[in-house]
Amino acid sequence: MNDTELKSCCAAVYESDFARLLLGDSFHPGGLQLTEKLGRLLALSRRDHVLDIACGRGDSAIFLATQFGCRVTGIDLGETNVAYATSRAAAANVSTLARFELGDAERLQYSDASFDVVLCECAFCTFPNKQAATSEFARVLRSGGRLGLSDLTRSGELPSELAGLLAGLLAWIACIADARPVEEYVAYLERAQFQSLSVEPHDEALAQMVRDVRTRLLAAEMMVRLEKMSLPGVDFAEAKATAACAAGAIRSGLLGYSLITAIKPCG
Ligand SMILES: C[S@@+](CC[C@H](N)C(=O)[O-])C[C@H]1O[C@@H](n2cnc3c(N)ncnc32)[C@H](O)[C@@H]1O
Repeated sequence: MNDTELKSCCAAVYESDFARLLLGDSFHPGGLQLTEKLGRLLALSRRDHVLDIACGRGDSAIFLATQFGCRVTGIDLGETNVAYATSRAAAANVSTLARFELGDAERLQYSDASFDVVLCECAFCTFPNKQAATSEFARVLRSGGRLGLSDLTRSGELPSELAGLLAGLLAWIACIADARPVEEYVAYLERAQFQSLSVEPHDEALAQMVRDVRTRLLAAEMMVRLEKMSLPGVDFAEAKATAACAAGAIRSGLLGYSLITAIKPCG
């Protein structure tokens, strides 16, 4: 699979009914609580224009606009996600503050220095060309602008059992395949000249997300068995085995979740 196919595939998985069923609207560990935490670490205010890269269904962008009064532009590769986010912003009466567009993190359609803040939650690990994405983050930020990244981290090789199960599976798990040690994320940002980097581990948020997914998987399986719901092509045994394996990898410290903040230097 080439990079373009890989990115389209990732976007398609996140638009699937199954991903929504398992994850709800907020597609990252810690949900809006962790988004709020990131917003506070970034000291968001009414004066800021934020670019939310890979915004998914717009949950975070709408929340941040409502909570902090900032303007937020959300971009995502998935057309359905962008349309859904746009209609939710209208329903929440924040269309003037939160708007959504199709866009690729590795080739942003905005001029240099157009944003005060760049945010990217639980998506950096899915980008095939992480250095290109990081350079784009730096390019569209103004001098002194702030970056907030939250992502899955992987501190070593995945157990072969888990790696094998990844082949045909859920989006949130598929991310794990290309998650990297947090030091590697930091190195990407440093190469793009970001400064004042700060890392906060939030592994418990990932553990809770996996517990929630396991509960939702059981409920979905029961609904399918009772013929109350149809999920063609979903292999519940495989999904449950993968989720159990992921839970073990989190317990052993192999997988985690971190918030990273950084600043684009002035001048
Ligand atoms: C795990 S979801 C995170 C969504 C959102 N940030 C959140 O936390 O709810 C990953 C998102 O990244 C998007 N995505 C993947 N590659 C992308 C790219 N190259 N450019 C823009 N969006 C991308 C997918 O379509 C998906 O919506």
